[in-house]
Amino acid sequence: MRVLAISGSLRARSSNRALLRAAEALAPPGTEWETYEGLAGLPHFNPDDDEDGRPVPPSVADLRYRAVAADGWVISSPEYAHGVPGSLKNALDWLVSCPELPGKPVLLLNASAAGGNFAQAALAETLRTMSLEVLAESLTAPFLSRKLQEGSELELAAARILRRSLDALTAATRRRGTQ
Ligand SMILES: Cc1cc2nc3c(=O)[nH]c(=O)nc-3n(C[C@H](O)[C@H](O)[C@H](O)COP(=O)(O)O)c2cc1C
Repeated sequence: MRVLAISGSLRARSSNRALLRAAEALAPPGTEWETYEGLAGLPHFNPDDDEDGRPVPPSVADLRYRAVAADGWVISSPEYAHGVPGSLKNALDWLVSCPELPGKPVLLLNASAAGGNFAQAALAETLRTMSLEVLAESLTAPFLSRKLQEGSELELAAARILRRSLDALTAATRRRGTQ
């Protein structure tokens, strides 16, 4: 299974990045895990730059290539003012017109100690509108962040829950027959 992991936080010491690193360590054997690093370098989405027959900026072409090549995505994002971080929404806006994405499974994670339920719900709505499959095993799990300091490992119970969600992602990609 090829996974594209995207952190909605650009912070160097981001807990969502740490959560994605923990998820990578727990992913089933044989998983090809790639963490997307281009979020901050994407131009602001402009539909004028996304018209048929016009080449998109190289950073956007790179995002689309990685997004399409992955069997599934894992997105871990903070919530800002009850919303999805602008840089993450901007990346999704660039992906809306990709014809290869419908049906691709997405696991949503959220390491916010305060819950982050508004952002997770908005993110799920956007992804469903893009016809991606948001997995029911997505987690809004403040307890996951408790031990997620730099270099630390998840508690056993948290690791078990996260592994179950990753297994659901594997099962979804198998059902789709892309791996
Ligand atoms: C400007 C700003 C606004 C925030 N607004 C919310 C919010 O509305 N709801 C919430 O649960 N957390 C909010 N937070 C807290 C972050 O979502 C939380 O600290 C998150 O875990 C940070 O993720 P990171 O460590 O990956 O950067 C906000 C943080 C910032 C900086």
